[in-house]
Amino acid sequence: MSLNEELFKRAAQVIPGGVNSPVRSFRSVGGTPVFIERGAGSKLYTSDGRELIDFCMSWGALLFGHADPDIIGAVLKAAVDGTGFGAATRREVLFAEKLCSMISYVEQVRCVNSGTEAVMTAIRLARGATGRDKILKFDGCYHGHSDSMLVSAGSGLLTGGLSSSAGVPAATAADTLVAPYNDIAAAEEIMKHSGDQIAAIIVEPVAANMGLVPPEPGFLEALRALTHRHGALLIFDEVITGFRFGPTTFGALCGVEPDITCLGKIIGGGLPLAALGGRRTLMEQLAPLGPVYQAGTLSGNPLAVAAGLATLEKIGRDRFFERIGNPIPGKFQGLELQQKGGAFTFFCRKGLPRNLAEAKTCDTAAYGRFFHAMLERGIYLPPAQFETAFISAAHTGADLAALTAAASEMSSDGNGQGDGISAEPLRRLNEE
Ligand SMILES: Cc1ncc(COP(=O)(O)O)c(C=O)c1O
Repeated sequence: MSLNEELFKRAAQVIPGGVNSPVRSFRSVGGTPVFIERGAGSKLYTSDGRELIDFCMSWGALLFGHADPDIIGAVLKAAVDGTGFGAATRREVLFAEKLCSMISYVEQVRCVNSGTEAVMTAIRLARGATGRDKILKFDGCYHGHSDSMLVSAGSGLLTGGLSSSAGVPAATAADTLVAPYNDIAAAEEIMKHSGDQIAAIIVEPVAANMGLVPPEPGFLEALRALTHRHGALLIFDEVITGFRFGPTTFGALCGVEPDITCLGKIIGGGLPLAALGGRRTLMEQLAPLGPVYQAGTLSGNPLAVAAGLATLEKIGRDRFFERIGNPIPGKFQGLELQQKGGAFTFFCRKGLPRNLAEAKTCDTAAYGRFFHAMLERGIYLPPAQFETAFISAAHTGADLAALTAAASEMSSDGNGQGDGISAEPLRRLNEE
């Protein structure tokens, strides 16, 4: 039994499914999850002694790669001063000022510990500010695991959604309406019917949780107009997209200003830190000034804000966004590559999907084979088809060349002829 297998067996005794977050379990791709000992730059080092080029990057949190010296230095310095006080600190002020200065339409931010918390609070704020209960979301967008957001499309557009997890009350799911991503007509139909009850429309401005699915031209602008027309708020969940495509939010880059922005991942430099932000008048609806309650013992934790501040400052200095372009060249047999800056997905289907229904037609078993074949070649991709892979500023040209070479090899029959990723080499590897 390999050390990985042994660790997984022990983990499964004391942690449900052996993991502290389900997608880590490799259930979508089969096999035993890798256990990580440490990371440096673009590389992961596993407990059984392998070096892997990491294209998961803590699910997008690590814009500067693993153990970036500037970020680690800031965390170490903060740790020496104490790990938390449950009281206001200077670092929080610096972090909030920096964040607000980088997003033209964000005047205030409230720090929380996870993207889930940021979205949960954004939804409460939207409900509190509008006095309405319903939320419109898009199928395939993931907004963390709060009750209102674990909802998928029901039988019809105009009925409430269905809870996608046991334990979510049906009444809560009924208050979340669900439209297909990139389908403005469907959103309009729902708003026509229930617009006066809808507190907010929430969307990932670039969807990254059904694989990477960009918005079609005009989609976000239309959502902005629709929410204005119906007196609802617009929430951009930028937990992935914030600071992923430029030194600001995607909303700022594309010129669509939401009422509330949710941030996470990159802004915490790899530590548990997330935030929601918006215009002062709206943000001041939160406690202690306003009636919308929200709190947190570890919110604005000194280690996390130190890592976040170091990251935001480094974004200002680094020319990553100018350098990155669309970094993966070429076409791959049997795979469709969607890429945008440092984010990409290899879809095992013909044609790029524009919504969840299309993404669902991917051959997920083929993705499992592809994933394992890439892993064999030292490339660590997200262990599930409906996820997004990430390139950090620490990745080198050699890392990208290794990715491209391995994917090309995997997607051909080895003779350069190519008959798709269900070809022999993949199948053989999976069976070994
Ligand atoms: C767009 C989006 N929103 C919210 C979340 C939830 O964030 P967290 O896992 O930090 O709770 C995620 C997590 O992947 C996400 O991708």
